[in-house]
Amino acid sequence: MPNSRKVLVTGGAGYIGSHTVVSLAQADYQPVILDNYSNSSPQVIDGLENILGEKVIHYRADCCDQQEVLKILKQEQISGAIHFAASKAVGESVTMPLHYYYNNLNSLVVLLKSMNQLAITNFVFSSSCTVYGQPDELPVTEETAPKPAESPYGNTKKIGEDIIHDVVNSKVGLKAVSLRYFNPIGAHSSAKIGELPIGAPSNLIPFITQTAAGIREKITIFGDDYQTVDGTCVRDYIHVVDLAQAHVRALDYLQEQSTDNFYEVFNLGTGSGTTVMEVVQTFERVTGVKLNYEIGPRRQGDVEQIYASVEKASSVLNWQASKGLDEALAAAWKWQQSLSKHYD
Ligand code: NAD
Ligand code: WQD
Repeated sequence: MPNSRKVLVTGGAGYIGSHTVVSLAQADYQPVILDNYSNSSPQVIDGLENILGEKVIHYRADCCDQQEVLKILKQEQISGAIHFAASKAVGESVTMPLHYYYNNLNSLVVLLKSMNQLAITNFVFSSSCTVYGQPDELPVTEETAPKPAESPYGNTKKIGEDIIHDVVNSKVGLKAVSLRYFNPIGAHSSAKIGELPIGAPSNLIPFITQTAAGIREKITIFGDDYQTVDGTCVRDYIHVVDLAQAHVRALDYLQEQSTDNFYEVFNLGTGSGTTVMEVVQTFERVTGVKLNYEIGPRRQGDVEQIYASVEKASSVLNWQASKGLDEALAAAWKWQQSLSKHYD
C-alpha cells in the first residue's frame, strides 16, 4: 500500500530540489531523494540533515535506469513524484544536444512508465519560462502561446510538457502539474544549502556572488541597449525557498483532486520584472560590497524582457511569493561566503 506522504524527489540533491526537500519534510511529507550527483554533491545530504535534524532517505541512482527507478518506487512505497532531475545549462545544450535529449527526455519517460506500472498517480514536473521565448505580451500567463524553443534544453522542457499532456490524455490515471519557474535565486537562510554551480556559472546571481567574493575579476552585463527602463534585460527573480513551497502546494493540490487524468500548468514567479542593473545595484546596497562590472555586448539568445502573471498559482494553489529581491540576494551572498565551510 503506497504511503500517501512519501514522495520521490528526482534531482533532490540539486539546487531547487534540495530546498524543496526541506519544505516537504517541514510539511510532514517524507521526501525520498533519487540523484546521480551529475550536477550536485552528496554533501548536500549532510546540509539537509543538518537543517532538518533528521535522516533524509536518499539513493544514488540514474533516473534513466528503469530497473533502479522501479526498485526504489516499490521499496519506498511512493505515492507521488516531483521530477527535477535534468541537465540545465542552456549553452551546453547547444553543443551537446544528444546528451540533453537523452537525459531530460529519457528520465521523464522512464519515471512516467515506472509510475504507470505501479499505479502511482501524482506527478509534478519542473518546467521553465523558457517555453515562452520572447513573449508578445507581458506579463505572460499560462495561456500565452509558447514560442519555438531557442535551445535544445528549452526544447526538452517543451517536449516534456507535451509528453505529460499526451500521457494524461491516454487516460492511464495520471494527475500531473507542470511548474514553469521564472528565475530562481537565493538560498536557504541557514546557508547550509544553495546553488552549487560546477565550473563557471552561466546564471547571473552566482556570477555576481563569485565576483563579489573575488573568485572572478568582474561581471559583464550583457547589453544596455534594450527597450527597458535602463537598457538592461528584465527578468522575474523568485526566491528558491518560495519556489520550494509551491511544490508542497502543488502536491497538496494533486491529493485534493478526486478525478484522475488531470493536467495543469502554473507559472511560478513574483509577478514583477527587475533589470540586470537593478539586481547589481540591489546586491551592492544589501551586502555593502562594490561589484566590479562592465557593460558588454548582448548575449546571443537572450530575451529582452519576461515576467510572470502569477494569478493562477495564487487563486488555484493558494501560493504566492513572500520574499523580495533584497532577502534573496542577501541569502545568496551568505551562502557564497559559507560555501568553503560546507563543500570541498
Ligand atoms: P540542478 O542541476 O541543481 O539539479 C538537478 C539535479 O538532478 C542535480 O542534482 C543532478 O545531479 C540531478 N540529475 C541530473 N540528471 C539526472 C539523472 N539522469 N538521474 C538522477 N539525477 C540526475 O538544477 P536545478 O536548478 O535545481 O533545476 C532543477 C530542475 O528545474 C531542472 O529540471 C531544471 O531544468 C528546472 N529549471 C531550473 C531553472 C533554474 O534556473 N535553476 C529554471 C527553470 C527550470
Ligand atoms: C539573467 C539575466 C542575462 C549573466 C536562464 C535560462 C532559462 C531558465 C532560467 C532554466 C539575463 C544577464 C547573466 C552574466 C548578465 N533556466 N546576465 N551577465 O538567461 O534569464 O534564464 O535561467 O530553465 O531557461 O535561459 O538567466 O541568470 O543566465 O540571466 O548580464 O554574467 O542576467 O543577460 O538578462 P536567463 P541568467
